[in-house]
Amino acid sequence: MNRDETAPAVIDIVLADEAETEQLGRHLAHWIIATGDGVTLYLQGELGMGKTTFSRGLIRGLGHVGAVKSPTYTLVEPYEHLVPPAYHFDLYRLGHPEELEFMGIRDYFQGGHVCLVEWPERGAGVLPGADLQLTLSKLGSGRQAHVTGNSGRGERLVRELGSLVRAHSDR
Ligand SMILES: Nc1ncnc2c1ncn2[C@@H]1O[C@H](COP(=O)(O)OP(=O)(O)O)[C@@H](O)[C@H]1O
Ligand SMILES: [Mg+2]
Repeated sequence: MNRDETAPAVIDIVLADEAETEQLGRHLAHWIIATGDGVTLYLQGELGMGKTTFSRGLIRGLGHVGAVKSPTYTLVEPYEHLVPPAYHFDLYRLGHPEELEFMGIRDYFQGGHVCLVEWPERGAGVLPGADLQLTLSKLGSGRQAHVTGNSGRGERLVRELGSLVRAHSDR
């Protein structure tokens, strides 16, 4: 049996600076493109921990050229020219989870899309579940990303990140 098949679907990754946070997003984007399917990611952590920075790296990694603005006031920013199409949510200002029904939330999460959700806890009970949960916290002057796989696809992605991080530290 492949030893990696039994590895737990949880990993902690140290991100020394802003560039490394963006780079983690780019790595995920490359994996998404290589596997040719969408994924739903919950991005958690306090204000200023790097959720939008990570999203910028991922969206640019999918091929978007130009600005990636925080969807704090619009709730969602679509990137429908990408393959797969990506939707960047920030639910910080969501008044009530039921508002997601009025937004037609199910259409976004129907599968085959990349859905990045900042502040998913604000949509609890209505927001569809995530393949991957990424929690950012402070570590010295940098950040730590705690990544959990919550589906078969999410677990495969965590293992992929595990071998990537090992490859980097082996250098
Ligand atoms: N690994 C890191 N180490 C130090 N600072 C970081 C790191 N990643 C991002 N930052 C900085 O932290 C801030 C994060 O802002 P932002 O991505 O908007 O956070 P959030 O969306 O979580 O509120 C930015 O100023 C960015 O430069
Ligand atoms: Mg943000």
